[in-house]
Amino acid sequence: MVDIRGPRAIALLDPTRSILRFLADPLAPLLSLSERFGPIAAVSDGHPELVCAFGAQLNHEVLTQPGAFEHDSALPFSAPKGSAFERFNRAMIFMNGDEHRRVRRLLAPAFQKSALDAYAASIVAVAKLELARWRTGERVDVAHALRELTLRVALRCLFGVDIGESTEQLGRLAARQLECLASPFSVLLPARIPGTPYAELIETCERLEARMRGLIDARRRSSAAPDDALSLLLTASGDDALDDDELIGQMNTLFVAGHETTATTLAWTVLLLARHPAALDAVTDEIEATLGDDDPTPEALSALGALDRVTKESLRLLPPAPVLFTRVLSREAKLGPHTLPTGAGVVLSPLVTQRDPSVFERPRAFVPERWKGAQPTTYQYIPFGAGARMCLGAAFANMALRLLLPMVLRRFSIVLDPDQAVAAHVRGITMAPKGGLFGRIERRARGQRARAPVTARGPIDALIERS
Ligand code: HEM
Repeated sequence: MVDIRGPRAIALLDPTRSILRFLADPLAPLLSLSERFGPIAAVSDGHPELVCAFGAQLNHEVLTQPGAFEHDSALPFSAPKGSAFERFNRAMIFMNGDEHRRVRRLLAPAFQKSALDAYAASIVAVAKLELARWRTGERVDVAHALRELTLRVALRCLFGVDIGESTEQLGRLAARQLECLASPFSVLLPARIPGTPYAELIETCERLEARMRGLIDARRRSSAAPDDALSLLLTASGDDALDDDELIGQMNTLFVAGHETTATTLAWTVLLLARHPAALDAVTDEIEATLGDDDPTPEALSALGALDRVTKESLRLLPPAPVLFTRVLSREAKLGPHTLPTGAGVVLSPLVTQRDPSVFERPRAFVPERWKGAQPTTYQYIPFGAGARMCLGAAFANMALRLLLPMVLRRFSIVLDPDQAVAAHVRGITMAPKGGLFGRIERRARGQRARAPVTARGPIDALIERS
């Protein structure tokens, strides 16, 4: 036990049950814990198994000591020896110390400036083709359409898969992998009994891996100049280079981490702009004035200030990762005034951090204009985390968001169903619109203004202020 307050357990089993419930759906508990108990709260009173730490000071303490506050490398269930699932789990997100530093160093060239320029051209080319296929005038799940868009972008930029090639299967397999991973039945019944989510997970990983090995072979045979992450990583040589098994585990992580978070950010931004027509007008006017009929380029982005502010504000208010990966203490360590034992779990939250009223005035309101003056510190604004474990794809994601959003907004008006009840839910670590975000996508004429404001109210109003 530690002297960290939190909601009281009623029965003996409750600490474990509270923790499982928190991990399954952390949004409401996060906000209530920070309101009721302040900067440090135990998910179950006095229990160090899972402790939430809120605010810049504690983010700094945890994120600057990756040796003490490690990523949890233990899976909730075991992987069959020699399986694709086992190889996928040798991903960098489960690594610590030297092992993590090595893989991060080897992957870094695929995300540095010179690589980003090549990706920018691919992002625009893929988006042009994909957006030309969007069906207009019909009611669709806009969040799904945006996920398809970022899926194709990820396949092109990470694996070099062109839009004409069959990508559906890879996308479906990746989505199914996530669903099976998140299923409580995989934890409760980790046995390869046909029909169970665990058995399906193992099978899905085998099929995904087979597809990825096919992509590696294709890249090896290709004589084209490398303009995707996989080709860049395959050109790396030396004793220390990643072997194929290692590469597969990392590519799977990049693929999953890469497209879901970006898609979700786009979906939340569409919702926020629909609720704030003045901000939508400011962004679309700016895009038209700056780009005309041209496609965006990385160079043009510096002239798109309103777009930059909207993106930052969306990532502040509805961060796609509302919590960072849980940290586990490798040794006894201080957290604020408390001493936590080895094995304690710590949750940091971009969602709560970015609602600190002493840093962001009217924190629950969508106010892109605040970014004309706001200069939060590294630990006050953490949609991508911070420090040694900061999102490896942050620069790529920031660029992709700022290229894709103008391409969508210039071509289409997205008229969300005015009465739908929008809610947020967390799958894995991503916070997405629960059950989708529905509306009509209409072709937009130049100069056309936003339509009547869309309210799209519902449980989401617990997270964002109406204005
Ligand atoms: C809007 C889009 C994105 C957001 C908000 C986001 C956010 C995050 C967050 C919060 C973390 C965890 C940091 C921690 O626990 O300390 C993370 C880790 C990571 N992200 Fe992203 N991410 C995004 C897009 C991407 C993309 C496009 C890629 C690659 C293609 C990527 C690759 C990674 C990797 C590899 C890690 C693990 C880093 C490590 O453990 O050293 N992410 N991301």
